Amino acid sequence: MTRPSTPVRCDVWWAPPTLARPGLLAVLDDGERRRHARYRIPADRDRYAVAHALARIVCANAAGCAPQDVAFTLHCPRCAAEGENRKEPHGKPVPAGPALGLEMSISHSGDRVAVAVTSGVPVGVDVEFVREDRDIDGLLDYALTEAERADLAAAGPEHRTAGFYTYWARKEALLKATGEGLSGGLASISVTAPAAPADVLAWDSPAAPPHVRLADLAAGADYRAALAALTAAPLDVRVHDAAPLLTAVTH
Ligand SMILES: CC(C)(COP(=O)(O)OP(=O)(O)OC[C@H]1O[C@@H](n2cnc3c(N)ncnc32)[C@H](O)[C@@H]1OP(=O)(O)O)[C@@H](O)C(=O)NCCC(=O)NCCS
Ligand SMILES: [Zn+2]
Repeated sequence: MTRPSTPVRCDVWWAPPTLARPGLLAVLDDGERRRHARYRIPADRDRYAVAHALARIVCANAAGCAPQDVAFTLHCPRCAAEGENRKEPHGKPVPAGPALGLEMSISHSGDRVAVAVTSGVPVGVDVEFVREDRDIDGLLDYALTEAERADLAAAGPEHRTAGFYTYWARKEALLKATGEGLSGGLASISVTAPAAPADVLAWDSPAAPPHVRLADLAAGADYRAALAALTAAPLDVRVHDAAPLLTAVTH
């Protein structure tokens, strides 16, 4: 099969949640401010504020508008296919208003916030804090195929937890790109072993996209992160530090 060779540009912005401050709330919309206020744990609140302010700023810069003018509509392909109209909007945030045509994904975990943006190509980003204390035994069947479980066992105990999160981040990035989220089934996707370059080997679902690109992202020793885009073209991934964008917000 011939693949188009023009790379798809994908910008990934990283920020620590410590950059959260009240001024960022001014760029959020009312719904986001309400949701921000509902978080009881300060760390969750800060990750949310940084992620949503950053998503607005990068979409606004790409669209040539103010961050406050960016709109996000939430899209759940599962409910759309089943004709369900749940009261509370949920699912993948899709840029709208002046930012219509952009695609965006948000992820936050521990001390990391990531926002990925492309023009017109559905994208998913996922970052996972490698929690050595978390019991992953109960998640193995849920997240991995039989072959992946065998590969993880063969890699040795010292690589087990980080390897598991590599699988998880890759698969969740894919499911965030399609918008299905975890309900799409992590174990329906088969990806390469953690030490190998990220790629999709099989995707056993009627919702599997015809083309997909997958890449690992460097997020620091205690994190695993991945980026997925629904395209046949190679990815041109540009990674940025978002601190200057966030500290420039003066309200
Ligand atoms: C939503 C979900 C992908 C979040 O994953 P997570 O590892 O807990 O969190 P992350 O930080 O990586 O990602 C969270 C972000 O993903 C985005 N998101 C939410 N749903 C999404 C979806 N279906 N597809 C893509 N992105 C989604 C949101 O922007 C969210 O950030 P926000 O809450 O600050 O706005 C995951 O919890 C999930 O799939 N849950 C089940 C969803 C489900 O059941 N959907 C069917 C409903 S009918
Ligand atoms: Zn739904």
